[in-house]
Amino acid sequence: MRAILMSEAPAPQWHQPVMGAEVLQALTPRPGAIVVDGTLGMGGHGVMILPRLLPNGRLVGIERDQDALELARKRLADFEPQVTLIRENYRQLPTILQDLGIPRVDGLLLDLGMSSLQVDRAERGFSFSREGPLDMRMDRGQEATAEAIVNELAADDLARLLETLGEERFARRIARAIVRAREDRRLTTTTQLARVVAEAVPPTARHGRLHAATRTFQALRMAVNDELGALETLLGHLDAVLSSGGRAVVLTFHSLEDRLVKHAFLSGAREHRWTVLTKKPVRPSPVEVARNPRARSAKLRAIEKR
Ligand SMILES: C[S@@+](CC[C@H](N)C(=O)[O-])C[C@H]1O[C@@H](n2cnc3c(N)ncnc32)[C@H](O)[C@@H]1O
Repeated sequence: MRAILMSEAPAPQWHQPVMGAEVLQALTPRPGAIVVDGTLGMGGHGVMILPRLLPNGRLVGIERDQDALELARKRLADFEPQVTLIRENYRQLPTILQDLGIPRVDGLLLDLGMSSLQVDRAERGFSFSREGPLDMRMDRGQEATAEAIVNELAADDLARLLETLGEERFARRIARAIVRAREDRRLTTTTQLARVVAEAVPPTARHGRLHAATRTFQALRMAVNDELGALETLLGHLDAVLSSGGRAVVLTFHSLEDRLVKHAFLSGAREHRWTVLTKKPVRPSPVEVARNPRARSAKLRAIEKR
């Protein structure tokens, strides 16, 4: 009972998960089902899904960020026997399930991108407006950081990275400015890099809706964490991990991510492996976008396995 009350009235300090109602509608978690949240974060979606799985279902929460996982553990403590939390990359899903003795699952959710925890903590280096180290690792056990990319990649490779992952129009100018700046001294902090980027773009781009460094930071974050690689790998495992009637729901925030999901879903549908439940991606309501600007670019796509 306490668990149910908790889900109805989340503690005010937790951020609302993006498109919570739409995720539940697409995922249709039912009593007894086994659902994987591959990007558990601080458990925002998890805490909404869990009451629907009671009394004997199970949520397997996967998260590569130790800090987020610990917060989620506290938040989901009331559901204890129904929750299994794993610190891993979701790209390892088949192995994770094998280790847990779970042949297939009824639901899978991915809510891509970074969590508010990562952005809010200056020392994690995700935010251009908070002075911190150029880190950006979701999994702090891994070696590669944003600092290594910014200081060691050749100008052409850096420009290509900013162009593809950041969709940055001024990629070449920014890459050249970074290389010039690092000849003076190694770039080690977020605000140092943000300044270099802001000075590299034309003045008109300096005062737009987005901060001039938004796309550069996005590209670096996606590269450091190989976000597209993980997504592509997971999409390749979908058929093997979903049970018949099982659903996968993916929330993307970037056109390259959305393209990967869209194509994987369409190609599986052509091969009669599943049905696409979202002809067009579902978008957040204007009310949600007004309340939570992070939801602005969210696109939800879902499939049901045959
Ligand atoms: C947008 S947040 C999820 C927020 C969560 N749905 C909530 O409501 O609290 C995305 C989370 O996924 C994690 N993540 C991203 N890629 C991952 C991967 N390949 N494997 C495991 N976790 C990943 C990030 O560390 C981050 O905490």
